[in-house]
Amino acid sequence: MTEVMANVAVPNDVRNKGFKTWLNEVVELCKPDAVRFCDGSQEEYDELCELMVQSGTFKRLNPKKRPNSYLAWSDPSDVARVEDRTFICSRRKQDAGPTNNWVDPKEMKQTLTKLYDGSMRGRTLYVVPFSMGPIGSPISKIGIELTDSPYVVVNMKIMTRMGRKVWEVLGEDGEYVKCLHSLGAPLLEGQKDVPWPCNPKEKYIVHFPEERLIWSYGSGYGGNALLGKKCFALRIASVMGRDEGWLAEHMLIMGAESPEGEKTFVAAAFPSACGKTNFAMLVPPKELSGWKITTIGDDIAWIKPDENGELRAINPEAGFFGVAPGTSYSTNPNMMEAIKANTIFTNVALTPDGDVWWEGMDGEPPAECLDWQGQKWTPQIAKETGRTAAHPNARFTVAATQCPVIDKDWENPEGVPISAFIFGGRRASNVPLVYQAVNWNFGVYLAATIGSEMTAAAFGKIGQVRRDPFAMLPFCGYHMGDYFNHWLQIGRSVPVPPRIFGVNWFRKDENGKFIWPGFGENMRVLKWIIDRVRGKASAIESPLGWMPRYEDIDLRGLNLSKAQFNKLMEVDREAWKQEILSHEELFEKLYDRLPKEFILMRELILSSLWRSPEKWELIHERYVEEAN
Ligand code: GTP
Ligand code: SPV
Ligand code: MN
Repeated sequence: MTEVMANVAVPNDVRNKGFKTWLNEVVELCKPDAVRFCDGSQEEYDELCELMVQSGTFKRLNPKKRPNSYLAWSDPSDVARVEDRTFICSRRKQDAGPTNNWVDPKEMKQTLTKLYDGSMRGRTLYVVPFSMGPIGSPISKIGIELTDSPYVVVNMKIMTRMGRKVWEVLGEDGEYVKCLHSLGAPLLEGQKDVPWPCNPKEKYIVHFPEERLIWSYGSGYGGNALLGKKCFALRIASVMGRDEGWLAEHMLIMGAESPEGEKTFVAAAFPSACGKTNFAMLVPPKELSGWKITTIGDDIAWIKPDENGELRAINPEAGFFGVAPGTSYSTNPNMMEAIKANTIFTNVALTPDGDVWWEGMDGEPPAECLDWQGQKWTPQIAKETGRTAAHPNARFTVAATQCPVIDKDWENPEGVPISAFIFGGRRASNVPLVYQAVNWNFGVYLAATIGSEMTAAAFGKIGQVRRDPFAMLPFCGYHMGDYFNHWLQIGRSVPVPPRIFGVNWFRKDENGKFIWPGFGENMRVLKWIIDRVRGKASAIESPLGWMPRYEDIDLRGLNLSKAQFNKLMEVDREAWKQEILSHEELFEKLYDRLPKEFILMRELILSSLWRSPEKWELIHERYVEEAN
């Protein structure tokens, strides 16, 4: 410690000049009681966790059941991303586009400066240096988060490469993304803190893309507060990718090795709480047990063409912030193994023996437990009131290294070569189990028009279908029309673009039950996809692209009747006419920057639904016949 400014001792390795100015400004504005530079060490992590046990933010779980693990219960007003409070404040409104909230950056800064004034009183400001991607890799990017939340610090330690090494890379004049985060809950003299400080009235998640700057206020939860994740690695990084010729996507990355030892990497985009984590580490069913699945990432991919024009992907994160409800040994055994220890749980239930529980976990529900709000919960109470023990968006934070099937190349700075992109949503009707776009441009259209039922991962009307282009609606930091054009351009610039597929694990029968068993059984669909990529699997032509017949997909050992399979694959012409026409809603919004190609492709799909309906009927019938 050599230097003192604003009563802050700055460690020697912090040499970046711009940073010191910024820190000074923030300290002056937010007025924290103390400033602490985080070094990313295990000792620091343990100390901050202990501090939070003392303050009531954390409960230490029973070390015999769940070693080195903690449980946090959030304020009921602060349980998910807040999309209506998320802003892209580009200089020009048209650069944010019609799918983002926009406010003039000057005006937004005035509003937030008032809120930040004194917002850290009574708290410590933590300086969190982090790298998205392996430290020092040419594709990695640096961020520094200034936060008054120790919960954020310990989560960032798991989710990013955080700590002293980052200062070395940054040097005197390196570039980084500035991430300012305040809970918006100053403590007055003598005021007692609450377990989950936040601002229940005002929340702002704000991005200034040209300045590579993020200002977050009022929330301590997930993507609102762990600013390396959605704010940096998607919203700001998507803008960087547009400017620099690469892609920042809401995608898992996985490897699949065939019984013959051939390895294929795919990336898949599904909206929040629609199955990325589960798919990324699936365990193949026994009929396909010769296949080995490995995980590179479960939520975000940065994808760049290499010098040969091959698209290579890295996972910029270092951990998983995964949905707890529904996670079990039968759905996701690899994750159950990963979270046995060294895990932070948020908004799950606490059992009497000091362990965690959530809906969908293996075995019987506990006879009694404390729900995520600390209230007594029993199966009987649940029956009477409908209350769940865990919040539907309850999550765990765990290091990627704890995943038993983490890929050996998951930290390879070169990334892994992507052979297929898969896009999916949560659709109870209309959308078939799997279909392949006839080429890149159709694939971009397919991805751009994905619809999905809304989930508890964000505040909003749960269950309602909305268009979620590329699963990026809440995460694209610029005009969605420009984003589509960027994808088309990437396709033009690489010699052999990856194949593009659509999937839907969530189609329901007339009794409202999922027809497809999902989870590990999704390997059967993945196998067809990989075989298509390698020219080994047959398909028939449909208005949506190429689709497998019953005999084209390995369904051995699965109790799925042909009738059920046909139901899963059905493309109802009337319903699809409506579906295609409903794309207009999104297109109208984007009209002035919508790729011209889209209008043509829409017409082509419509005409193949329309043109000689008997013919399509015939094809479909043949397909059903062959299936039978
Ligand atoms: P985010 O972390 O919000 O981006 O979510 P995600 O896309 O990683 O979703 P995740 O894998 O955590 O799954 C979310 C929910 O969907 C969980 O409750 C899962 O149990 C359920 N789910 C995942 N895969 C399947 C599937 O194949 N079939 C069915 N029916 N449910 C699934
Ligand atoms: C999502 O909502 O897509 C998530 C969780 O992955 S959060 O980090 O809170 O955005
Ligand atoms: Mn996500």
